[in-house]
Order: sequence, then structure tokens, then C-alpha cells
Amino acid sequence: MIIGSKVILHDKRLGDALNDYTWRTDPELAQLDAAPVPNTTFPKYLSDYASELRQSSSTRHRFAIDTLDGKHIGNCGYYDIDETKGKAEIGIMIGNRDYWDKGYGTDAVTTLVSHIFHQTNLKRIYLKTLDSNSRAQKSFKKCGFTPYRHLVRDKYSFVFMELHRDQWRGNSKQKLNQVRA
Ligand SMILES: CC(C)(COP(=O)(O)OP(=O)(O)OC[C@H]1O[C@@H](n2cnc3c(N)ncnc32)[C@H](O)[C@@H]1OP(=O)(O)O)[C@@H](O)C(=O)NCCC(=O)NCCS
Repeated sequence: MIIGSKVILHDKRLGDALNDYTWRTDPELAQLDAAPVPNTTFPKYLSDYASELRQSSSTRHRFAIDTLDGKHIGNCGYYDIDETKGKAEIGIMIGNRDYWDKGYGTDAVTTLVSHIFHQTNLKRIYLKTLDSNSRAQKSFKKCGFTPYRHLVRDKYSFVFMELHRDQWRGNSKQKLNQVRA
């Protein structure tokens, strides 16, 4: 369990499946994620979910995002972990709209980034979001990410953003000094 200021990140569990299915099959969320809406029933989704939970992976780690009082509001994780190049991609979704624009996404990403840099030797974390997703970009900038590349793939136009360990360390020190001043 990883505790942030507004959220707790924990390993996925079977009880998260219904919310995840609801969010995965929500057309607006799928559009924001540049993902197709899966054409699968809940029982099939649940069975795949259960078998995925039984497998451990060294190239990705997925977490549920809960509020501090235990409400499941979204998911995040890191994927495509490349230890040779020292990089990984992160992803996030606050599925419960009641929790948008209230700082939960920013805290979840800040908490995830801190966990990754403390627990691994990775040097660079990156992410991608749609060029049109201004909310996401604003949130990621607040977490210290900066845009470095644009890419058009299929019908989607993406911006890639990155955060290097050194920048993150510098930002953390700066925040600490502001608190002490
Ligand atoms: C993107 C997401 C993770 C951001 O998390 P969040 O908790 O909503 O974001 P935060 O409240 O931490 O920050 C959002 C900021 O964007 C601002 N914002 C909201 N809509 C905006 C818009 N259309 N244009 C510019 N800024 C906007 C908010 O006011 C806030 O800034 P502030 O703190 O200065 O007021 C979350 O909204 C989410 O998952 N949304 C749905 C799925 C999605 O977008 N998926 C793609 C993610 S790559």
C-alpha cells in the first residue's frame, strides 16, 4: 500500500473488477484514453481479470487508486519497464467523474512517481496523452512532467511528457525548502 496526501495506491484486487469494467466500457473515458470500448461481457472480463491477478509481471505494475477513506476512484500503473534503458511509461485514469479537478489525479501521479524513483533504479518516467486533453496535461505539468514529443498515430494526436530522476529530485528539494522557509 502506498500512501499519498489524498489517495492510497494498492495492488489490484478482484473487488475492483466491477468499477474497472464500468470505466473501461464508458465511451467518454475510452475516448480520453484513445482506446476502443471492449466488446466483452462482465463475466468474461471478470474471469480474465482473475487470471491476470494470479500472474506476476516484471514489466508492469498496476495499482488501484482509493481515496484516503477507501473509495475506489481510478487506476494507475507503470508499464514497459526497460531496466537497460532505465525507463518506464506510466498511465492513470480517475474513472469516477466526481473526483475530477480536485487534485486526486495529481496526487496519484506524484505518489506513483515517488514510489517508482524510491523503489527502482529507473532514471526516466514518461507518459502520453491526447493533445486535446488539457486537463491531463495541466495535471502532469503540476507533477513535474514536461512535453518532449508529438506523435500522430491512427486518428489520434498525442503529446509525450517526461520526468527525469534528477529533475524530480530537484523539484522535491525545492518543495522542501519552500515548506521550511
Ligand atoms: C486526467 C486526470 C488524471 C487528471 O486528474 P484530476 O484529479 O482530474 O486533475 P487535477 O485536479 O489534479 O488537475 C487538473 C487541472 O486541470 C485543470 N483543468 C480542468 N479542465 C481543464 C481544461 N479543459 N483546460 C485546462 N485546464 C483544465 C483543473 O482546473 C486543474 O488545475 P488547477 O489545479 O490549477 O485548478 C483525470 O481527470 C482523469 O483521469 N480523467 C479522465 C480520463 C483521462 O483523461 N484519461 C487520460 C489520462 S492520460
